Amino acid sequence: MNGNSITIIIGGGIAAYKSLELIRLFKKAGARVRAVLTRAGAEFVTPLSVSALTGEPVFEDLFNLDDEAKMGHIQLSRAADLIIVAPATADLMAKMANGLANDLATTLLLATDTPVLIAPAMNVRMWEHIATKRNLATLRADGIMTVGPDEGDMACGEFGFGRMAEPDAIFEAAKAALGVPGPLDGKYIVVTSGPTHEPIDPVRYIANRSSGRQGAAIAEALARRGAQVSYITGPVSIPAPKGVDVIKVETAAQMFDAVNNSLPADVTIFAAAVADWRVDGAGASKIKKQKGELPTFTFAENPDILASISALPKKQRPKLVIGFAAETDHVLENARAKKKRKNCDWLLANDVSGDVMGGTNNQITLISDSGEESWPMMSKNDVANRLAEKIMKALTTP
Ligand code: C5P
Repeated sequence: MNGNSITIIIGGGIAAYKSLELIRLFKKAGARVRAVLTRAGAEFVTPLSVSALTGEPVFEDLFNLDDEAKMGHIQLSRAADLIIVAPATADLMAKMANGLANDLATTLLLATDTPVLIAPAMNVRMWEHIATKRNLATLRADGIMTVGPDEGDMACGEFGFGRMAEPDAIFEAAKAALGVPGPLDGKYIVVTSGPTHEPIDPVRYIANRSSGRQGAAIAEALARRGAQVSYITGPVSIPAPKGVDVIKVETAAQMFDAVNNSLPADVTIFAAAVADWRVDGAGASKIKKQKGELPTFTFAENPDILASISALPKKQRPKLVIGFAAETDHVLENARAKKKRKNCDWLLANDVSGDVMGGTNNQITLISDSGEESWPMMSKNDVANRLAEKIMKALTTP
């Protein structure tokens, strides 16, 4: 990022402390960083710590002669290649969406012709409020880029969407916004995610509890690093990851076709919880309830997508085929056996006896031909970032 200049506006939220780490990442990458601290932001981080990290004076007040003498606010608004608002509070987003300009941060945002990236952070109810949704839609329509928020525990004790994206995710989003080539530029990766729905009749189906969160996080983490990603997902209720090509399917058979139609790829990651069986001969008419008579179903086996891609001849086979093993008992033993049976390169074993399925955290043991490594319990986003880093290394080392 040598030569890139970033202006970071730090709003007033508990996530402001993460912006210090973000500044550190930019500085380490060689970018110049100027920081603007809102009055509320200064309640959470001090100008001294911000200034120590940027190595520049901190700008705080529109009407401060010293600040204005250091660099006029109009000049400040134009001096950067990218303006980042992190944390972007509900209040800042509302002001931006409505073009208010009553302090240094908002005046600068209104006066600028520089691309703007916001990292929203707020309580889940505030994030879900119709007013915030309206403001977000306005900001997006105005060309403002967003990263996050993430789902998880909040400082206020509640749970849900509203946590500011992690500094490395904002950093990667900023690089993408600046057109800095990502480490996975030119790589094409296919990710399956979510459950599959296997019809019993036109109105009923068999499904599982997969939320699709882990697969979505992986797809987004890869896209942020510059990969071209096809994200093939079964029916889920979470938002689609950003920057990926979304292919929606329902059944295992459709997922199998979608994966095969997406090849050749450099890497394939099978995070979907694919149903092992489908109802044989599921018909076009709804099965009627008959008094005293229970329906019986026969099952047919679904194609094993992971095993079939692993078995492709070397020329067609992706360089890395990665599977997941969601297990409730004897997790490692079962996962090791699964890796052998499916012949994939890496297998990520996770214990789903707790609330992993549908939850936001995950604990992974990565099994590869060169050994096993156990990762601590972490968020699904962190799992995704760690996996993306490993993939980068594997693709760049001969
Ligand atoms: O369901 P199972 O535990 O066998 O899944 C292990 C791995 O195989 C997962 O990565 C899953 O996405 C993949 N799989 C698949 N096609 C199937 C069943 C599983 O790709 N029909």
